[in-house]
Amino acid sequence: MPYYQRVRFDILTIFPEFFASPLAHGVLKRAIASNLVEVLTHDLRAFTHDRHRTVDDRPFGGGEGMVLKPGPIYDCFQTLDIAPKPARNTAKETVILLSAQGRSFTQTISHDLAACDRVVLLCGRYEGIDERINTLLCDRELSIGDYVLSGGELAAAVVLDAVVRLLPGVLGNPDSSRNESFSPEASQSSINTAALTKDGVPDSTHLSGGLLDYPHYTRPAEFLGLEVPEVLQNGDHLAIRKWRRQQALAKTWRNRPDLLARAALTREDRDFLATLDNLEKQNTTHNPSS
Ligand code: ADE
Repeated sequence: MPYYQRVRFDILTIFPEFFASPLAHGVLKRAIASNLVEVLTHDLRAFTHDRHRTVDDRPFGGGEGMVLKPGPIYDCFQTLDIAPKPARNTAKETVILLSAQGRSFTQTISHDLAACDRVVLLCGRYEGIDERINTLLCDRELSIGDYVLSGGELAAAVVLDAVVRLLPGVLGNPDSSRNESFSPEASQSSINTAALTKDGVPDSTHLSGGLLDYPHYTRPAEFLGLEVPEVLQNGDHLAIRKWRRQQALAKTWRNRPDLLARAALTREDRDFLATLDNLEKQNTTHNPSS
């Protein structure tokens, strides 16, 4: 696990007040108060020069909607003391455009960003931004999912949250951010034998092996007639790890089967998945309409 230090985020937006709430709650609030992260928002309208503080204009070539003008973004960027793009060490300083056209944001990218000193998040709006800004200033274009938001602000808040919770000292237990679904330690290994313990059960409290997380329960032991699974209540830690592993496998099989191809699976895992496949086949044979 690389050593992460304090990260400074600069968010360029036409709605700086949008970030007041995310920055004032939970993990982000505590991380800022503890000086583990610095987050500065920059109002692009402050870099306009007309009476109406115009940040957008009609697209060349015609078409729907408006496009963010390059001038205010460029002028705002010049105040940030970030190296020009050709001279930039992007492992330390990186400029990101949030847009629906970007590459998919992943947990692996979160870890890369957590290792930076500076991260600049540029929030697109309207139909987009003038592409010359992307060319001149941005190192990467990221999307948080295959849907179109009305702007990059929500996406920037998502990226900020995902990165900040990885910084050392932000979460009480450093394992909380390492064990979970999508941890790069888990998903990058094809067969990660480090994930295996002597008893042969992958240690689900250390690596989830590229699987979705197992279900969690807390008190009360019975809620509206539903009992917490017996195995979690009897203190048999090997049985608990086995159960959690199978639950993680079953959830991944059901909700994200695409992840199984890259997951670190043992022989026992594969046998368990085969029983799930067989059960499903039997069900569809007996209930062809389901
Ligand atoms: N702006 C609009 N849609 C977006 C998305 N899916 N991800 C990031 N920024 C966006």
